[in-house]
Amino acid sequence: MVPASVIAWVLGWPVEDARRMYRWTVEICDRAMEMRPGTGNSSKDIHPLFAAYVEDKIAERRRRPEADWPDDGLTRFLTSEVDGERLSTAFVRTNMQFLLGAGAETTRDMIGGLLYQLARDPELYARVRLDRGLIPGAIEEALRVYSPTQFMVRRCVAPIEIDGQPLAAGDQVFIGLASANRDESLFPDPDRFDVDRANAAEHVAFGAGPHVCPGASLARLEAGIAVGAFLDRFERAELVSDEFEPLHTPMFYGPSRVLMRLTPA
Ligand code: HEM
Repeated sequence: MVPASVIAWVLGWPVEDARRMYRWTVEICDRAMEMRPGTGNSSKDIHPLFAAYVEDKIAERRRRPEADWPDDGLTRFLTSEVDGERLSTAFVRTNMQFLLGAGAETTRDMIGGLLYQLARDPELYARVRLDRGLIPGAIEEALRVYSPTQFMVRRCVAPIEIDGQPLAAGDQVFIGLASANRDESLFPDPDRFDVDRANAAEHVAFGAGPHVCPGASLARLEAGIAVGAFLDRFERAELVSDEFEPLHTPMFYGPSRVLMRLTPA
């Protein structure tokens, strides 16, 4: 629930709405994967209930004088201009929907993967609990090993050849972030979760280049706080079953549920 609460807070929505936002996030991610380009589907079609919620929040704000608007994400969206024009309601709504998937789902998957990994290895759990300086390394390894965003998609703007594979302008390319994060030439013994790995942060879990994830620092901050609070609260966490139920969307990876036996501190 932490990432959905953070997105709600950033956008200026009631944090109490995080529970339903969390449910909507899962539904939006599932449905977005089924959408096909050129079918004319809008963000409203993906999740009419969420679209109505956002439009209500926008209308509520527009009923008040602009000088009274709070300094939050929603105000930034509504007052931003591109080429001298304000963003349309549909644009704002679509981007808020995008933020739920990009910011809440991914961060939840990363925290889920990290807690699963700690509960799977009691020695590691005890070590990190005792030495909180290991948390940043554990977060980077969770990002590398679990790769919450498994791939990205790009469209070629010009013909190019990569590794002997010719690509034409307009071709779609799937970039396997999860695969790159287990590149054995960069990360020796790549399947091993190693909190002491010196170059763990060289992963590409947040992408790379001009569109690299702008929420990376926020995601790391949230994970550090959430995992620290979990370690404070539980002296031990052990897996009930080694298996976890994965998410249903191919783009995102992480546990949808992890069963643990917890010993309070
Ligand atoms: C563990 C958590 C996260 C992971 C793994 C992740 C991963 C990614 C990846 C792979 C991209 C695509 C980069 C590209 O196309 O080159 C991306 C873009 C983006 N992310 Fe994240 N993200 C996370 C958290 C967040 C958070 C917390 C937010 C905001 C609150 C956020 C907002 C965005 C936005 C707005 C973009 C689009 C950037 C652009 O197209 O210029 N992400 N993220």
